[in-house]
Amino acid sequence: MRVAAGRMPLLGHGPAMARDPMRFLRRLRDQGDVVTCCLGTVPVHQINSPELIRRVLVTDAHRFGRNRIFANARQLFGDGLATADEPVRMRQRRIMQPAFHRDRTDAYVDIMRTEIQRFVDRWRAGEVVVLDREVSRITLAVTAKALFRADLGSAAVGEVCRSLGPVLDGITKRAMLPAVYERIPTPGNRRFDAALRWFTTIVDDVTKAYRDSGADHGDLLSMLVASPMTDAEIRTQVLNILMAGTDTTAITLSWAFHELAVNPPVRRRMLAEIDTVLGGRPVTAADLPRLSYVDRVVAGTVRRHTPVWLLMRKALEPVRLGDVTIDAGAQVMISLPTLHRDPDLFPDPMRFDPDRPLDEQARTSALVPFGAGRHRCTGEAFAMAEMTTALVTVSRNWVPNPVPGHRVREVTRAFLRPDALPMTVYRRNTRNW
Ligand code: HEM
Repeated sequence: MRVAAGRMPLLGHGPAMARDPMRFLRRLRDQGDVVTCCLGTVPVHQINSPELIRRVLVTDAHRFGRNRIFANARQLFGDGLATADEPVRMRQRRIMQPAFHRDRTDAYVDIMRTEIQRFVDRWRAGEVVVLDREVSRITLAVTAKALFRADLGSAAVGEVCRSLGPVLDGITKRAMLPAVYERIPTPGNRRFDAALRWFTTIVDDVTKAYRDSGADHGDLLSMLVASPMTDAEIRTQVLNILMAGTDTTAITLSWAFHELAVNPPVRRRMLAEIDTVLGGRPVTAADLPRLSYVDRVVAGTVRRHTPVWLLMRKALEPVRLGDVTIDAGAQVMISLPTLHRDPDLFPDPMRFDPDRPLDEQARTSALVPFGAGRHRCTGEAFAMAEMTTALVTVSRNWVPNPVPGHRVREVTRAFLRPDALPMTVYRRNTRNW
């Protein structure tokens, strides 16, 4: 076992990890294929080589389970697709997978475009939009609308969007902190409890309305209501989907707008493709396969700015990985952005280049921003369609540009994200774009 340098008594590598997680994880990567650190007194093995990562996620996935963080989240919210352990997760995945199938996702493109357009129509030429916040609101509205498509759900979409912010903030905090924290009546905890109660009431009401109507509205909730799940299980799934699908997509999309603004040749090429394919009309699902450069802009962004920065697993039995034996019960971590920024795999890794993923995906299987194996993201097709639709819908008429003097910083929160992304939005036809 190779224990990383810099371990402190009792605290282990905890302070280094807390101070600058991405720097710490990068240092671990540079020390070997499997490197052990101690978070407090708990040893955690970081897996760095693409081959061994593939074993943990894919070929030997049955020998690893979800770790303690998920157990905390489960206690709070029950078993959902993004938190449950086997065999519950597998059963839920089978029920929900069809809702995320590409055929179905195509039907969501109209919803996505309409929702995105609604936000963009409020912009005024030359105003500063805090783009990361705006995009967060957009992805939440899009996901909520795809869940509750029917008119029965339209009030719920608004209410869910209002109540979900404090719920999502609180979930991350509570999953990380000891259980005693949630019993302290801080203003944050009270806001969280009230928002969660409200969220529960809304989702239960709309589920009941769907059950009473008995119709298939072609959305995720119809699919859940038709399945053998109870109302409580459905509520958990809805929360899981909103949790897993909103911020990840919003963050990636925000970075895409940033990269386009600081890479004018890429933006010009993308706008040219949009004009050629659409000829001025709104985007539909049928256009997506022809928008190959936009797709590469998204793929290039999700490599360069991979939002899910840590996958955690627990070994269920002893597993030999490279020259290290991982004991049963030991914690294992994989840092996807650290992998995607490995200069041996992706030369000049911090350079944003939409032409890169195609070549490199062919050469290496190290590009896994949506995970791999049994936990591979169920929402990948949904997210890709949403991000493409958003880039096209915004870029047809608007050009967001950085506010002079503002420097964007990457910060490590629940996801790896920009600290703030204020951008001035210009009408496309007013300049030579
Ligand atoms: C850019 C956007 C997204 C990224 C980068 C992303 C990334 C990921 C990753 C890396 C995992 C694997 C986690 C693990 O192995 O422990 C995952 C799982 C998951 N994602 Fe996504 N995701 C995105 C968008 C979405 C969307 C839009 C949805 C739903 C609408 C979604 C739903 C889920 C669910 C339910 C899981 C758990 C799957 C399972 O464990 O069986 N994600 N995602």
